[in-house]
Amino acid sequence: MSQLRVDGGTPLSGEITVRGAKNFVSKAMVAALLGEEPSELRNVPEIRDVNVVAGLLQLHGVQVARDVAGGVVRLDPSNVESAHKADIDTHAGASRIPILLCGPLLHRLGEAFIPDLGGCRIGDRPIDYHLDILRQFGAQVDKLDTGILITAPRGLQGTKVHLPYPSVGATEQLLLTAVRADGVTELSGAAIEPEIMDLIAVLQRMGAIISVDTDRVIRVEGVDRLGGYVHTALADRIEAASWAAAALATGGDVYVRGAEQPSMMTFLNTFRKVGGTFDIDDDGIRFRHPGTELRSIVLETDVHPGFMTDWQQPLVVALTQASGLSIVHETVYENRFGFTEALRQMGATIQVYRECLGGLECRFGRRNFFHSAVISGPTRLRAADIEVPDLRGGFSHLIAALAAEGTSRVRGIELIDRGYENFTGKLEALGAKIVRD
Ligand code: EPZ
Repeated sequence: MSQLRVDGGTPLSGEITVRGAKNFVSKAMVAALLGEEPSELRNVPEIRDVNVVAGLLQLHGVQVARDVAGGVVRLDPSNVESAHKADIDTHAGASRIPILLCGPLLHRLGEAFIPDLGGCRIGDRPIDYHLDILRQFGAQVDKLDTGILITAPRGLQGTKVHLPYPSVGATEQLLLTAVRADGVTELSGAAIEPEIMDLIAVLQRMGAIISVDTDRVIRVEGVDRLGGYVHTALADRIEAASWAAAALATGGDVYVRGAEQPSMMTFLNTFRKVGGTFDIDDDGIRFRHPGTELRSIVLETDVHPGFMTDWQQPLVVALTQASGLSIVHETVYENRFGFTEALRQMGATIQVYRECLGGLECRFGRRNFFHSAVISGPTRLRAADIEVPDLRGGFSHLIAALAAEGTSRVRGIELIDRGYENFTGKLEALGAKIVRD
């Protein structure tokens, strides 16, 4: 397990660059499987999730060529083939991406095998919506000891689907399956995150016919054949917000080159309400601590266009430095406050509750999920020895260690490599005192 020694107490200051969004790039790479010609994706970050998807695609016969520094991935799916189940298992590692290979593999090969899925432990993270969608297209789903085998002996037919909750992954599952299914598919209750809109843009470039109507309705007219694409990935708005929160928590001033305003509107409103200041130009966003007291807020996470669940964890660290009581209600994942335990150990005053505090009753109300948090600040944070629990929680621990007085040891930082490109290099560029052991 790698660890980072962090000598905290120095405001982060300077400039870093964010590249393409982890939660889009992996899906766009999977989309290339649907085409009969090569695709080229640009602005691809050097993160572990990209390596995992590249490995999975290669197992299925896709030729992957990368220019890591230039951020370009070329994918040639001309010779797609079935992979060995054991190989898929080893490659999938701690990722949820294999589930999204189903539609493309069913179209190309007539079957798909999905190993037990990984991903961050922030709730149950079931795949029932995914499997229901595939069944509705006419696929047969068989659960085996080692994973799930999905077959489509009679091909896939367009269908009408309603999602009980606007799941990002399930919406992507539907898109990646419907584009080459026979006939028309209609999805209501769809997720409409910017990363999904970018995936739709990629599919359209490949030849798909997709319309996004009002009220979360997406319509897809299946086509027989798709080509390749050339596309530049939208920026990683989660990474950008993480650096913004780090600037706020450490009393710093960070210019995030590559950050884009349209996908961060909701975050920027909240950042301003807490008291942070920002300046936007054509190339990025500069995030600054105001130099005066930060203000407490009431916040609820939600699907787009609401406040993203992935922004919640880094911002909570900044809220430990705000004056008064902040209330944060997590409505997307039932178990995303586990990371606050370490913050309490570092001196933060945070209580978690089962009740839906500060807003609407959500799916997790009156159940046994500690999904609301009350943060009382400002509190001085002390250094501690901590272990990274998941990707975003881990980066949040890092922010806390940077804001704390003394030397912290953060263990298991390889989890952060999954989604934050060269984060130690960026921290050094911002003046952080860190050593990676
Ligand atoms: C994506 O996860 C992201 N991951 C997550 O980012 C992100 O937090 C999430 O979307 C919400 O924005 C990737 O893109 C790889 P969901 P996904 O399906 O697609 C429930 C990060 O740190 N649900 O929108 O898996 C589910 O339990 C990660 O970058 C079902 O009940 O999220 C959750 O409560 C963490 N059944 C809710 O829907 C299903 O079959 C939303 O999940 C599927 C989902």
